[in-house]
Formats: sequence, structure tokens, C-alpha cells
Amino acid sequence: MPDVRNLKSSSATTEKTSAPPPEIWPGPMEGVAVAPFVEAVNALGLVSRWMTPFFRVSDRRPKLRKLKEFLAPFAAGNVPLHAQIMGTDPELLGSVAADFLSLGVASVDLNFGCPSKRVTGGDAGGGALRRPQLMREILSAVRRAVGEQAVLSVKLRAGYSAPEEMDVLLPLIAETGAVNQVFFHYRTVAEGYMPVPGREERFRQARKLLPGMPMILNGDISSVEEGNDLIRRFHAAGVMIARPWMRDPYLLRRFSDPAAPDPEEGRKRFFSALEKAGINRGAKLELARMLWGADSPRFRSLLP
Ligand SMILES: Cc1cc2nc3c(=O)[nH]c(=O)nc-3n(C[C@H](O)[C@H](O)[C@H](O)COP(=O)(O)O)c2cc1C
Repeated sequence: MPDVRNLKSSSATTEKTSAPPPEIWPGPMEGVAVAPFVEAVNALGLVSRWMTPFFRVSDRRPKLRKLKEFLAPFAAGNVPLHAQIMGTDPELLGSVAADFLSLGVASVDLNFGCPSKRVTGGDAGGGALRRPQLMREILSAVRRAVGEQAVLSVKLRAGYSAPEEMDVLLPLIAETGAVNQVFFHYRTVAEGYMPVPGREERFRQARKLLPGMPMILNGDISSVEEGNDLIRRFHAAGVMIARPWMRDPYLLRRFSDPAAPDPEEGRKRFFSALEKAGINRGAKLELARMLWGADSPRFRSLLP
């Protein structure tokens, strides 16, 4: 595995005098970002940074070897790598965050957004949004464990049941002083992945509650124009894009490369890179569904 220690975040290397370029992040996708997927993305240069899907921290400190294996496919891309962790034990999360940093990741992110019932039932992921005191303890413990210099972020939703919960959650995050950056997905946990109205009001409110905090906006951002417009209007450090990226694989790259292929050409190139990387049949079907849609002839032609 290349040493990710040398891969500083792109904003860190920007000249002080010029405004840093917006950060364009691929949304972590547990279950989708399997090794051949990551290999295909790296081969085509589709991302300028990675955030891993969540690494679940449950009851014991994993061996460093296990963390290295988890990072390996992403690290092969030679772009800054950020590790995401999820769990409920503050001290244990702190140890694992410190271990990931010792392996050279650029930062550690805490997942407070996953809506899966298996996860939230135990108060992990988005479930933690129902327990602000636990969130506070996790943030403080992880910051203590990683030291002042490390970069720590949280990725969270607007609330568990209602977006108004952000009025409590976001100031709490700021008060801990533990976090350098916030990834804000505008939906609540209860809203899952449904389309819901009011995205921009929620972005506006989040910005108001976290003045000065570097913020990455997330949720249903599907073009360069839309992303840049949101960054400008909400003074965001950047955007994070997951599912729309899977409908247009060169979408993230197009922010800095106007010559990037159009969506259909991008889908074809990406799909052949996935095949070359040896993606298994189940994952291939799932990705074809994401790329072309369940009703598309392309997806249906792959069905048995
Ligand atoms: C299949 C799948 C897996 C996901 N896994 C993660 C994950 O591991 N960590 C995380 O923070 N978000 C995860 N997400 C959420 C996305 O990163 C993103 O926040 C969400 O899909 C909204 O952004 P979008 O509208 O651009 O897709 C996942 C989403 C999907 C669809």
C-alpha cells in the first residue's frame, strides 16, 4: 500500500493568497465501494480524494493489519484518503481514530448519519442524533485521543425525526470545539433517501448555526452548475455527491475538467473498467442498475 502520509489534502497545499478551490467529495457508499469498484474509479481518475465507507467499531480495538487492509484499495488511488468510523463507545472510537491516523490518513470522519435500522437500533450512525450527550462524549473522547493537530470531521443528517433537531445538534458540535469540518446531508434519518422538499432552507439554517465552520453540502446534487451555485450561496467549502455520481461517473471530475466525457460515454467507460477490475456478478448488476436505471434496456439485458 502506498504511504498515504505524503498525500496532504488539496486545500492544505493551496497558496495562502488565492481562495482554495472547492472540495469535491465522492459520497462514501458502503456495499457499493467494494475493491473492484474502487480500482475502476482509481484507474479512470474519477476522484480527487476518497472518504471510505464507515468502518464499524463495535466491541474491541481491531488490529492495525485489519485497518490497513480496509484502506488498501482506496490508498492505491494516490489521492488524499479520509477514513470514516462509526460506533458508540467514545474511548474505543478514539483509539481506532488514532490508529487510522497513524497509518497516514489525512483525516478521520465520524458517521452520524447512517439510517440503516441495524445500525441505528444500537444508537450508532444516525441513531446517535437521538442522543446528543453521547455525540458530545464521542467528539470529546476522539479529539482527546487524536490530539490537537489531527483533522476530525463529522458527517451527519439534519436530525433523526425532524430537521429542527439541527438547532440543537449543530451548536453542540461547535461547542465541543472538536471538529474541523462538517459534512451536512440535508435529510433526516427518518427520511432515508426519499426526495424531500426544503433542501435549501436546511442548508441555509445549517450555515447559520455553524458560522465559519468549513461545511460540505450533501444530498441530490447532480450537476457542476448546481454544485457551484450551492457552494457560492451557502459559503460552503465544497460538495459531496454519491448517487448522482453513479448516474454520471465523470461528474466529480467535470468540476475541474470541462473536457470530461458526457454521462453516457462515462457510464460505458466506467462499466468496462469495472469489468476489467473483475467485479462480481451481483455487484455488476447493482452498478448497472445505478448507472442506467432499473427500466433501462442496458440493465435488463444483463438480467438472467
Ligand atoms: C448504497 C449506499 C451506501 C452508503 N454508505 C454510506 C457510508 O458508508 N457512510 C456515509 O457516511 N454515508 C453513506 N451513504 C450516504 C451517502 O454518502 C450520501 O450521504 C447520501 O446518499 C446522500 O447523497 P446523494 O444524494 O448525493 O446520494 C450511503 C449511501 C448509499 C446509497
